[in-house]
Amino acid sequence: MTPQQRHIYLDHSATTPLDPAVAAVIRTHLDETFGNASSIHRYGRTAKVVLEESRERIARAVGAQTAEIFFTSGGTESDNHAVIGSALYQRRTFGRDHVAVSAIEHHAVLDSAEYLGSIGFTVDRIPVNSNGFIDAEKAAAMVSDRTAVLSVMHANNETGAIQPISALSEVARRHKIPFHSDTVQTVGKLPVNVNELGADLIALSAHKIYGPKGVGAIYIRQGTSLDPLLHGGAQERNNRAGTENVPLIAGMAEAVEIAGLCREELFQRVTVLRDTLYSIISNGIQGIIRNSDPEGSLPHILSLSLDSRRYNVESESLLLNMDLKGVAVSSGSACTSGSIQPSHVLLAMGRDTRTTAATVRFSFGKFTTIEEVTRAGELFCSIVRSFPSV
Ligand SMILES: Cc1ncc(COP(=O)(O)O)c(C=O)c1O
Repeated sequence: MTPQQRHIYLDHSATTPLDPAVAAVIRTHLDETFGNASSIHRYGRTAKVVLEESRERIARAVGAQTAEIFFTSGGTESDNHAVIGSALYQRRTFGRDHVAVSAIEHHAVLDSAEYLGSIGFTVDRIPVNSNGFIDAEKAAAMVSDRTAVLSVMHANNETGAIQPISALSEVARRHKIPFHSDTVQTVGKLPVNVNELGADLIALSAHKIYGPKGVGAIYIRQGTSLDPLLHGGAQERNNRAGTENVPLIAGMAEAVEIAGLCREELFQRVTVLRDTLYSIISNGIQGIIRNSDPEGSLPHILSLSLDSRRYNVESESLLLNMDLKGVAVSSGSACTSGSIQPSHVLLAMGRDTRTTAATVRFSFGKFTTIEEVTRAGELFCSIVRSFPSV
């Protein structure tokens, strides 16, 4: 690889590089704001000011009230808290013992629901159509006054499919069910306003938007009650025990604000990048199945599978070959002990197991260039051509 052909990172849905402006904020607070935000002396008060300013900035970005934002360790914790915390509170208070989640949720939601199943809840998975979209009517038919929580993500992390959140929040409201939407993939990519979405709970994560890993937030609409997951301190108004990580929280606030400022321009840019990449690949090789519907999906993600009737290849080989050529991409689905699990998202969309196992997710970011996607597309085509066809 020549110096001009630097490594190409097309895995922004997994994580993003830290924005230098965010890194500078974190560095300053690591050095200067070491106080415990619960302490009453000046060091604590200084940290508390930074904490509350950050809360206010994030609340403003999603149309929430400042007191409705609670800091967590990331999207996973926020999803766990929304789903498990709601369900436990609703069962304890109203005897509700059913949860409904979409079949294509991130494992942070799916496995939380599975855990609830292990402690006596009935769990329903709401199906999706072959393009990965939920039908709000089908969801409506699966919930009742017994439902303790309904959870449907704003956009899917593997395909980018954007879900009908406002319609689903109406369904939840009719039954007075707390409605959670995982917005980890949409903050900074789509407008995320809690009142327009109508969600009672949303999950945010900093590292998907050029912020630090290990910090996130949960929005809890005023009047929505959750049991806490963590016990041991009165931080975050008794909702989340543990000393707040003020430097990372300040970094998250900066990242959320920058993402909001860049959102529309980024949307336009990644649309061009995605369309360019798709055109190179679809013109270069046959038997490509597009998992990301061009009309209703985030343009930041392009998930493609190789049709099993034509190819006998697995994602691991594709990803490793791409990596050897200097391009980082993903299959989009979870990796356990180094091997890629069949995607529950693509299976829910009705793809066969072998096609599902030959999937590559390209995801674009604010530093991605047209030259990079062009090169990635050409390399992908030449790698696929090098595999024997069926
Ligand atoms: C849709 C979605 N939800 C939740 C998460 C988990 O977020 P975190 O990595 O901050 O725990 C991810 C991360 O991949 C995600 O894509």
